[in-house]
This record gives sequence, structure tokens and C-alpha cells, in this order.
Amino acid sequence: MKRTIKPARKFGGTLSVPGDKSIAHRAALLSILSNGPIVARNFPDNADCRSSLNAAAMFGVRVEQAGSTVTLHPPAKLSLPPDAIIDCGNSGTTARLLAGLIAGSGLEATLTGDESLRRRPMKRVIDPLTAMGASLAGTENRLPLKVVGSKLLPFEYTLKVPSAQVKSALLLAGLASKCSVVVREETPTRDHTENVIEAIGEGITVREIKPVVEPDPVDPRRKRTRMPESFKREVALSAQTRIDGGDIDIPGDISTASFFLAAAAISGKSITVTNVGLNPLRTEFLDHLKAIGCTVAITDKTVVSGEARGNVTVVGSQLKSRKLHGDTIVGLIDEIPMVAVMAAFADGTTIIRDAAELRVKESDRLMAVSENLRRMGVKCGLLADGLVIEGRKEITGADIQSYGDHRIAMAFSIAALFAVGPSTIDEDNVVAVSCPQFYDLLSSIAS
Ligand code: S3P
Repeated sequence: MKRTIKPARKFGGTLSVPGDKSIAHRAALLSILSNGPIVARNFPDNADCRSSLNAAAMFGVRVEQAGSTVTLHPPAKLSLPPDAIIDCGNSGTTARLLAGLIAGSGLEATLTGDESLRRRPMKRVIDPLTAMGASLAGTENRLPLKVVGSKLLPFEYTLKVPSAQVKSALLLAGLASKCSVVVREETPTRDHTENVIEAIGEGITVREIKPVVEPDPVDPRRKRTRMPESFKREVALSAQTRIDGGDIDIPGDISTASFFLAAAAISGKSITVTNVGLNPLRTEFLDHLKAIGCTVAITDKTVVSGEARGNVTVVGSQLKSRKLHGDTIVGLIDEIPMVAVMAAFADGTTIIRDAAELRVKESDRLMAVSENLRRMGVKCGLLADGLVIEGRKEITGADIQSYGDHRIAMAFSIAALFAVGPSTIDEDNVVAVSCPQFYDLLSSIAS
């Protein structure tokens, strides 16, 4: 079904967004290995998190839902039905984290998913989990992936791809197998697995490597800054790590909030999103908004269940272009489609590099963004690892293709709100993967 989006005449206000998808996945999947029940509050009702809840239920977790509170009762004994096939839907996080958990559990299952997920690369988890002693087999290293778990060996690993999903897969493998795992990150990725284990369990330690300032050996009167290690973060899970269970209060999802905050940026108006997650490894988008000229204010900042949260107000202005590359891209990994749309409304040319990872997300997001921007009359160059976007004053309404990807649909729905003339977008239910209420929320702030 096609949805028509007309340009907004009135825009601004306050809203809250559903709970953070990444944290909800961790709550659901860690319940499989927990010693006691986990009560997850503000659990988002979306297709991706339902994939993780359904998977947990296959391991014998009893899932009780009362409004947005989900209580997860772990099984007395870990088991799976014979020849289990676990459908992870569209969710890469469910598939990759479960690959680790099953690898360390001594159980067997086949992981599969929808067409998009079956195209996505799994070698990044297959290689390290195989090195730990599990057996994982999938044609061309993709789903359907047969995972045969076993008692794994203690493992130390530096991530080859900066991916929180890979890091979490290895941590879950260690937790399930009761073996120690050390994961080193050259570029730190979101740390929700570490935070949830710390909040309702015990046995994980994190070392942040700080640069040292020392006399320059060439000219000792000067100082130089040096990284003492080749990595920036080290996560160590001991063989004794356990999940006891308890309460996890999930803050609003900053990646969902980013679409509404971007709308404030483009319109020059003000939007406040309340109770949104402000984990420092997830707030690069707020830094980006400041860098391109917006005002960003945070109030009522607190930490609950190991995760920072607060209210964020963004006031837009005439936007500036920016060059984005390196670690910044990892911090913006889910927000790049929205960043690219904002760039279309900015002065000057925005260049995004080091973003080849976007080609293997729910869709080829570099291609999807460039195609839709071109349809809206924006000059956009498609690079192997990025985009070159020429900002302009006006963009035109168009027939937008979501490519079945929730973040493409949401980013271009925002573009359509500020385009000249109406737009249509295919298959609007695609937003249900992360935020089924997206269009209702949008109509509460734009008319
Ligand atoms: C996620 C990690 C990121 C992100 C995805 C959710 C997670 O993927 O893009 O939407 O919850 O761990 P990668 O770890 O593959 O970068």
C-alpha cells in the first residue's frame, strides 16, 4: 500500500518514543540464561523485538506481557525442541546474538529470517565462534545458519568489524558456556550488553584505554599524545559471570528519536523528545546536530538500569554541510540515512566516507539513500563507501522507495514533510520493524 505524505504547514512540540530496541533485545535474549525473572519496563512493541521474545520462548522462557512491561521467566533447564528452526524475522541483532548464545549452550538450532536478513553477512560471527569451538554452517556464510553448540574455549578477540552485534555474540557465547571471553575494540560500539549484564548480573569488566600525554622523545620540551594500546576498549567476561535477573527500565530509543529531532533541524522549529536514552556511545547524532548548526539542550539527565537518559530539545537553523568519516560513522551507524536527508537541506556539500557497512544493513542503505535523494531532485554521488550530497534550498516531492527498510522509510518520510509538493511512499507498514507508531507520532507534531 502507498502512503501519501503532504508537506507540513505546522510543526513542533513534545513527544516520547518507544523503548530502545537494542536494550530490549538484550533483556529478551539474556533471560534465556538468567537465574531469575527479568522485568523489562517500557519494552517496545515492534517486529524486531518480537523476534527476540519469540526466540526466547523457544528456549522455554515464559513471556508475560502487561502493557509495556514484559516479565521474562527463565526456563528451569535450557533446552530447544529437536531440529529447532528459529525465525529471526528482519532482526540482525536477534540472529547474531543468538548465534553466540547457541554456540556456547551445547544446543543445536537453525537460524533463519526474512529475505533481507538471509542476504546479510554472518561470517563476522561464524569465524570467531568457530575459533571458540562451535560449529556454524550456512551457504555463503548467510542464513539459514545451522549452529551446533559445544563447550567453548576461553577466547580473546579483537573485533574485525566494529559491531556491537559481534561483540555481544561472543559475550553471550562465553556466558552460555561459562568460559572467559575478552573482546577488544579499536572503535568502541554500543555497550548495552555490558550494561545489562552489569545491571542485573555480575562478572563483566570494561577497561577504557585513555591516551597518555608524555614528553616527545624527539623534543622532550614538547608533549605528545599516544594511545598505550592498539585498541580503545576491552570487555572481559569472566567464566563465573551470571545473570541474576531483576528490573530493567528501558529509555526511549534515540535512533527512533533521531527522525523527529532531524525534522526540528530541517524546519528550524523546536522538538522535545522526553525520556530518551543518552548512552554516550549512542549520542553521536546529537553531536552531529550541533556540528551542523542546531541548538541541542538536555534536561533531567539521570541514569537508570545502567543507562543514561533525559529530555532532549533540538531547535533547528540553516544547516551546514560536514565531512563525516572514521569512528564518527560507527557512532551514527543507524542514523546515516537521516544524516543524508538533512544534508540535502544544508548549505554546501556533505561527504560521507568509511560507511560501506551501510550496504549490508536491512537494505543497501547507500544505494537506497542516493536513489531517493535523486528522485527528490538532489544531486547525490554514490561511492563504494559513502555518499556526496549537494545541499539545496528546496527538494521536491517524489515517489519514494523504502526498499522494505524501516529506517529508509522513516528518513524519507521526514524528507517528504519538508519537500515541495506531495510524496508517496511504498509499503508504509515497514516502519513496524522498529516503530509501528511512527506515523501517529509524526502527525502529533506535524500537520
Ligand atoms: C545493533 C548494532 C548495530 C546497529 C543495529 C543494532 C545492536 O549493528 O546497526 O541496528 O543492537 O547491537 P552492528 O553491530 O552490526 O553495527
